[in-house]
Amino acid sequence: MFEDLKNSIDFFLSNTTRFSRKNFIEKNPKIIERTQSENDYTFDILSRYLKPTTKPNIKSLDIGSKNWFYAKGEYRFLNNFSNDFILDGVELDAYRLYINFYSRFETAKFHIKELKNTNYIAGNLLDINKKYDYIFWFLPFVFIEPLVKWKLPKRYFCPEKLLEHAYSLLEKAGQMLIINQGELEADEQKKLLEKLSIPYQYLGEIQSSYFEYKHKRFGFLVQK
Ligand SMILES: C[S@@+](CC[C@H](N)C(=O)[O-])C[C@H]1O[C@@H](n2cnc3c(N)ncnc32)[C@H](O)[C@@H]1O
Repeated sequence: MFEDLKNSIDFFLSNTTRFSRKNFIEKNPKIIERTQSENDYTFDILSRYLKPTTKPNIKSLDIGSKNWFYAKGEYRFLNNFSNDFILDGVELDAYRLYINFYSRFETAKFHIKELKNTNYIAGNLLDINKKYDYIFWFLPFVFIEPLVKWKLPKRYFCPEKLLEHAYSLLEKAGQMLIINQGELEADEQKKLLEKLSIPYQYLGEIQSSYFEYKHKRFGFLVQK
């Protein structure tokens, strides 16, 4: 109970003050190298599991972007077959501060600096109402414990509502890739999809030669 109160106060304060140092630049060579590999991983798995489209004016959304360190991988995937797209990323806890006193928002600005038509949206997925051709959803909270560990107030735990909303944002013939961490989360994701009668293809374990995560990841492809 106290943990939730602490998280709620913390969330309220960071969202009202929006305090951050400005103009973040990553200088740590180890982090730069890891980020490059994770972006290559992102590009690799999107290219393998999602079909390109010749549609003009493609709209795509990343859900729960954190500091969007992997935005370049998503951008590269879209840019490979289109020069007419937008890429949005929505993050509820956008003003959370890192120990270097830069917020996720400021850090994300650095990661998307050179990407045109790419927008980091500080807000709740439930407030998004645009339609999207591609939705990327890496590591949604399907259990409450990780959400609390990530310091979000418990009232934001509503995986069913979020999934239903994400599905409602998908354009006709749109594709949504969901990636879960660990078998338990993947099982829970499957249950949520089935409960909401959302048609899906289970992709099994997601692996890439570009990056290996400590915990196994599993994927779901949802197509309208
Ligand atoms: C486990 S993290 C995954 C972060 C990132 N996608 C990654 O792969 O590293 C889940 C993220 O979803 C965000 N989130 C949770 N609920 C959300 C909501 N309703 N709208 C937008 N973002 C949300 C959290 O704040 C958190 O940054």
